[in-house]
Amino acid sequence: MTAVRPDATLTPTAATVPHGEPGAPLFPAGFVWGAATAAYQVEGAAAEDGRTPSIWDTFSRTPGKVRNGDTGDIAADHYHRYGDDVALMKRLGLKAYRFSVSWSRVQPTGRGPAVERGLDFYRKLVDELLTAGITPVATLYHWDLPQELEDAGGWPERATAERFADYAAIMAGALGDRVGMWTTLNEPWCSAFLGYGSGVHAPGRTEPAAALRAAHHLNLAHGRAVEVLRDRLPAAAQISVTLNLHQVRPLTTSAEDADAARRIDAVGNRVFTGPMLRGEYPEDLIADTAHLVDWSTLVRDSDLPVISRPVDVLGVNYYTPTIVSTPASGAGDTRNDGHGNSDHSPWPGSEHVAFHLAEGRPRTAMNWSVDPDGLYDLLLDVTRDHPGLPLMVTENGAAFDDYVTPEGTVEDPERIAYLRGHLDAVQRAVADGADVRGYFLWSLMDNFEWAYGYSKRFGAVYVDYASQLRTPKASAHWYADVIRRHALPPVPDAHA
Ligand code: FCB
Repeated sequence: MTAVRPDATLTPTAATVPHGEPGAPLFPAGFVWGAATAAYQVEGAAAEDGRTPSIWDTFSRTPGKVRNGDTGDIAADHYHRYGDDVALMKRLGLKAYRFSVSWSRVQPTGRGPAVERGLDFYRKLVDELLTAGITPVATLYHWDLPQELEDAGGWPERATAERFADYAAIMAGALGDRVGMWTTLNEPWCSAFLGYGSGVHAPGRTEPAAALRAAHHLNLAHGRAVEVLRDRLPAAAQISVTLNLHQVRPLTTSAEDADAARRIDAVGNRVFTGPMLRGEYPEDLIADTAHLVDWSTLVRDSDLPVISRPVDVLGVNYYTPTIVSTPASGAGDTRNDGHGNSDHSPWPGSEHVAFHLAEGRPRTAMNWSVDPDGLYDLLLDVTRDHPGLPLMVTENGAAFDDYVTPEGTVEDPERIAYLRGHLDAVQRAVADGADVRGYFLWSLMDNFEWAYGYSKRFGAVYVDYASQLRTPKASAHWYADVIRRHALPPVPDAHA
């Protein structure tokens, strides 16, 4: 009798590899292959069908905030071209598409009734995906707060969390019958600390105390949305949140650098994972920031049980590690931590920590170092700290200075090397015990890269913004091959 272990596909023998190299390990059965975008970065149609400005519309119109004065007014015109874009996804063999909903498109003032025309766009997009056999993964909030809610105080105000719960209910009602995977927030660290701390993101405020208050209210918004979604979605729906967990490494083995790493882990990671996954704010975070906020009045007794409502999956976004020290251990830079330059720190209470770039590693066009081991370590760290928690890599990818060749191709071997290294890291993490359910490449196509505007190209598909022509880059073809094989393809022989 042959016993088949449920996880047998994790360590296949050569005979079970359908298309790959003999012996190339398969990704786990059911592993989801996707690509991601976000509403403001791709949709355009900023003033159509009742949409009103979000904080990113306002911010991008503020002189000096976004490179070249770029805005998301047109972006990749996904709002009008979604049909072609879904067809392209299908040709590439994508199994899932992670998109976000523009809150001010479906509920323009952030309050009150929904706008059906706005909801219709997402209904049509989802129907198109389902027809193409692609699983829709909806993120409710990827940084574009309706401007009216910012005018009322934004995320530092508790009421914004309640508005978010109402909006979650609208979306559950509109898409609950056809979307099975939901994410409440994307990278609340950026919303809170780049939006209200360093000010390099919308709404561009530089108030450390407000940034911490925003973090708590984003946590609360997440928890309230989980409650609402659980209540209204079919039992099988998967609910998650996506965090950009910083893979923090001390520069040296000194006690001072260890403390710098602890601090950045607290205000970069545990400020979210603590309340969401453990039901408490870390004591060291509270101590580090006690001069800025009174946590005992900010956090009400009833908040933590709400915030810690269980999620089905934790989404993890990873690009590069975060190497830190005290200024004494090495020059470093207390300002440029890879999240944009500002005279204001996005690390309230730990403004003195210095950031470093790894030596001797390739860099992307963002000047981020390429370090797949960081992803491996991150997945295993989360697994160690939260045993049994299913994970999904909801973003990973790289910007390079891509261009279309005279032959009409886009050759991006650096991106292929980046993706290969990181997918290999995912496989190693799975082999060593991490329960990783899928991988979403950032991004499906070039788009509005926030404060960098259109100057940074993260897409697997090249977008010519003047003509809106899409050209799959060599990396898109490579990724399609990975998906087809469910395994990494062989490394081409350099001498062949
Ligand atoms: C992440 C964002 C995403 C994109 C990538 C490069 O922080 O979630 O929208 O900008 O970085």
